[in-house]
Amino acid sequence: MTQHLADRTHPSGEPSGTAGGGRPDWWRHAVIYQVYPRSFADGNGDGMGDLPGIRARLPYLAELGVDAVWLSPFYASPQADAGYDVADYRAIDPMFGDLHDADALIRDAHDLGLRIIVDLVPNHSSDQHEWFQRALRQGPGTPLRDRYHFRPGKGEHGELPPNDWESIFGGSAWTRVANPDGSPGEWYLHLFAPQQPDFNWNNQAVRDEFRSLLRFWLDMGVDGFRIDVAHGMVKAEGLPDMGSTGQLRLLGAQVLPFFDQDGVHEIYRSWRRILDEYPGQRIGVAEAWTPTADRTALYVRPDELHQAFNFHYLNTPWDADALRRVIDGSLDSMRPVGAPSTWVLSNHDVVRHLTRLGGGLARARAATLLMLALPGSAYIYQGEELGLPEVTDLPDEVRQDPAFFRRGTGDDAADGQEGLRDGCRVPIPWTAEGASFGFGDNGSWLPQPPGWGKLSVAEQTGDPSSTLALYRAALAARRAHPALGAGDSVTWLPAPAGVLAFRREGADGSWVICAVNTTDTPVAVADLLPRTGQLLLASTHFAGGDVLPADTTVWWRD
Ligand code: GLC
Repeated sequence: MTQHLADRTHPSGEPSGTAGGGRPDWWRHAVIYQVYPRSFADGNGDGMGDLPGIRARLPYLAELGVDAVWLSPFYASPQADAGYDVADYRAIDPMFGDLHDADALIRDAHDLGLRIIVDLVPNHSSDQHEWFQRALRQGPGTPLRDRYHFRPGKGEHGELPPNDWESIFGGSAWTRVANPDGSPGEWYLHLFAPQQPDFNWNNQAVRDEFRSLLRFWLDMGVDGFRIDVAHGMVKAEGLPDMGSTGQLRLLGAQVLPFFDQDGVHEIYRSWRRILDEYPGQRIGVAEAWTPTADRTALYVRPDELHQAFNFHYLNTPWDADALRRVIDGSLDSMRPVGAPSTWVLSNHDVVRHLTRLGGGLARARAATLLMLALPGSAYIYQGEELGLPEVTDLPDEVRQDPAFFRRGTGDDAADGQEGLRDGCRVPIPWTAEGASFGFGDNGSWLPQPPGWGKLSVAEQTGDPSSTLALYRAALAARRAHPALGAGDSVTWLPAPAGVLAFRREGADGSWVICAVNTTDTPVAVADLLPRTGQLLLASTHFAGGDVLPADTTVWWRD
C-alpha cells in the first residue's frame, strides 16, 4: 500500500527565493499559513480539495507574504476525523493525490521561497492501520496488541471499560473488540474517536517507526512537522482513573493522566537529534494543550521542539487586561528556554476569530494586527485573510466532524458552535461567481453560504480597503521593519482603560508602536501618540488624529 519515491535530500538546505532570505533561525519570526487540504482548492473537480489544487495556488501564498505553509494531514486515511486518522503514514490519500503530487508541491513551494510543514499524527493511528488490523486478528497477548493500549474490561465478564477516561469527542475513551473467535474480547483506548486507537509509546516498535517516518518526510524535503496532540503520547503508569466527570475540554486547568506527562519530552529530544541532522533548519511545532504557559515552554527547551502553539492566547477574550496578561505570560514563559513565542487566533478546530471574538470584521482585523505586531512567530488559518466568518448554520446532514456525532445533548457554548468544527472548514471562495466560487469546477464537500463570493480572493484583490490587502500590507511591513517579527519582549506604554499600547525596537534602533482600542467606542489617545514618526498601518479607517476608533489597531513607525 505504501507508495515509493526515490529518497532525496533537501534541495539546497535553504529554499531559494525571498522567504527566509538566508536570515538565521527563520522560525523565530516566521508567519506560517495553515492550509486545510480538503477546503483550500480542488484541482480535479470532485468537490474535495487536493494537492494539485494547493500547488496551483502557491503563488497566491507567496504573494500574500507568508514564510511557510503548514498542511493538515493528507495521508491515506478512512477520513473518520478528516485525515487525523492515518492508515498509512507514507502514502497520500488518493482523494488528495499521490506522492508525486506531494513532491511537486514541495519543490514548487521551495522555488517560491515558501517552506512546507506537514502534520504528523503520532498519538493514534486509524483503526484501519495495518498494525491495528493485525493486532485485532492476532488476539490478546500478542506483540502487535502491545503497540496499542489493549486491556481486559472490568466487571464480572469484562463488560466495563478498564478505567473512567473520556474521549475528547465525548463518551468513553474505550471500545470493546471481539476476539478472533467472535467472543467478546479486550478493550482498546482511543482518546479521540473509536476509529483512532492510541499508540502505546512504551513500545519500542512505535518509537522506531516514528523516527523512520520523520526521516521519510525529511528526505522528501519538508521543512518541519506540526505534531498533533503532542502532549498526549505518554500515559500515566497503570492508566489510573481520572476521577472526575464532565466533558473534557482540550485546554483546561485539569491535570490529567493522559495529557502532558513528563515522559513525552524524551521523545522530543530524540526527534530533535534527527531534525538537526538535516540542513536548512527543519523544525518541530507542538500542538500541546497544557494547563499553563510554563508547561508549554517545556516542549520547546533547546534540545526539544522549536515552537508550540499558544492556545492560551487563542482562548483569550477581546479584553485589554486579559490580553496584556496573556502576552506577558507567554513572553515570560518562553524567555527562559530561549524559544520564540507564537501567536494564533484561528485554526481548523476552533470557531473562526471573526465570529468568536464577537465584534465582526472590525474586531477581527484589529485582533490580527495586534497578533502580527507581537514578538515571535504567528499562525494564520486559511481564509482569515479574507475575513471569513464561521459558518454557523450548516445543516446537520452535511456535517462530518466526529465531535458533532459524539457530543452529548447539552450545549453550553455561547454561540452554539463551540466544539463543532465543520463551520470553520467550509471551502475557500476564490472567485465571485461560479460553481463553488472558484474552489473547484463543481460543488464543494461542505456547502458555502450564498454571500461567500463577495469575500472571494478575486473580489478583494486590488481593493485597498479589503481584509486581503490588510494582511498583505501587514506581512510586507513585518518583513521590511526590523522592529517587527522576532523578539522576546515588548515595552508597554501607559494607555487609557481598554487600550493596549506597546513599543518594539529593532537592533538598529528603529521602532514600531502598536496601539489597540479593544472597546466599542472611540478613545482619545493624544498622550500615547508618538511625537515623531509616521502611521504605518491601521486596521480600520484612521487617517491620523488623536482618537482611536472602536475596535481598531494602529501601527506607527519611526
Ligand atoms: C488535533 C487536531 C484535530 C484532531 C485531533 C485528533 O487536536 O487538530 O483536528 O481531531 O487532534 O487527531
